[in-house]
Amino acid sequence: MRAAVVQVPGETPVVTEHPSPEAAPGRSIVRVTAAPIVPLDLLCASGTSYFGRPAVPYVPGVQGVGVVEESTTLPAGTRVWFATPAGMAPGDGSLAELCAVADDDLVPVTADVPDAALAALGLSAVAAWMSLTWRGGLRAGEHVLVLGAGGAVGQAAVGAAKLLGAGRVVAVARSEASRDRALAAGADEALAPEGDVDAFAARLAEATGGRLDVVVDPVFGAAATAASRALSPGGRLVNLGGASGDVAEFSSAVLRAKSASVLGYTNNSLTVEQRRDALTAVAGHAATGALAVAHERVPLAAAADAWQRQATGDPGVRLVLTS
Ligand SMILES: NC(=O)c1ccc[n+]([C@@H]2O[C@H](COP(=O)([O-])OP(=O)(O)OC[C@H]3O[C@@H](n4cnc5c(N)ncnc54)[C@H](OP(=O)(O)O)[C@@H]3O)[C@@H](O)[C@H]2O)c1
Repeated sequence: MRAAVVQVPGETPVVTEHPSPEAAPGRSIVRVTAAPIVPLDLLCASGTSYFGRPAVPYVPGVQGVGVVEESTTLPAGTRVWFATPAGMAPGDGSLAELCAVADDDLVPVTADVPDAALAALGLSAVAAWMSLTWRGGLRAGEHVLVLGAGGAVGQAAVGAAKLLGAGRVVAVARSEASRDRALAAGADEALAPEGDVDAFAARLAEATGGRLDVVVDPVFGAAATAASRALSPGGRLVNLGGASGDVAEFSSAVLRAKSASVLGYTNNSLTVEQRRDALTAVAGHAATGALAVAHERVPLAAAADAWQRQATGDPGVRLVLTS
């Protein structure tokens, strides 16, 4: 089969012939129709992540959409979204024509949403959805701030917050194009992260109307510091990424004066059932047009170029390999 193959950790994968996977007890073969390239794929392939150096050669890709070709648990032809541990554990992932998937990692999808659109949402939207619901405990009417709102997690978080009944959703994103994506996702207001931390915190307090209950934060650093200062009593800041850096400063006085919470989140601690239910909810809302992530379809043959675009900065949209 054709696949994007990492030959050396840290180097761009090469599209080449690779042995086709074989079905085995507990794992099914999926013909992949759409697979996104996400920050986690690059982190795993870098060889410097906390998952350790991956055994090479391997096919990256921690998720995808496709059709079951061979399985003992689902009928052939079943449309699925799926996850893989590629780069976090030995084995191949989704950036290929075929992928072997553990049966627990298959989620049948009946929602009427194009494969590439569902792939673009995928784990980014699961993280956004679960950060707001399970981790952040969002209640209807509460005010939400989304940092890094032009990225895939950010767009999904903006859309999900509106769906979940947030009273006001404010987006923060660096470029005008990013802010436009956040507004398209449903943000009430989108601002740039400008000024020092004090000035930015004051601007956030103003934009959120003096009430901030939940922050979805894939960015960390100074933006998270400012957001923490704008939290209302009982506010929750859910961190799920460190796009701007791994460290942020929090004031004890600020947190304890408001009984505020700073919470970590990772998709990797979800149960199979939680992830399946979140993905199914996301797919359902995507089918109505209420949840979407801007994306671009790229043929599998051009995987190396797409990987480079994701690696060298913000490609502007989620790149989804299709075959
Ligand atoms: N914990 C989890 O389970 C989980 C799940 C999915 C993703 N994540 C993490 O969440 C982060 C965002 O993922 P994504 O899929 O949304 O990525 P993406 O679609 O590639 O978008 C990149 C995001 O990173 C932001 N960004 C990049 N460099 C930045 C910088 N120097 N300063 C501030 N912001 C910066 C961008 O902000 P702008 O909007 O301003 O352009 C944008 O929101 C990544 O770190 C990813 O690893 C975590």
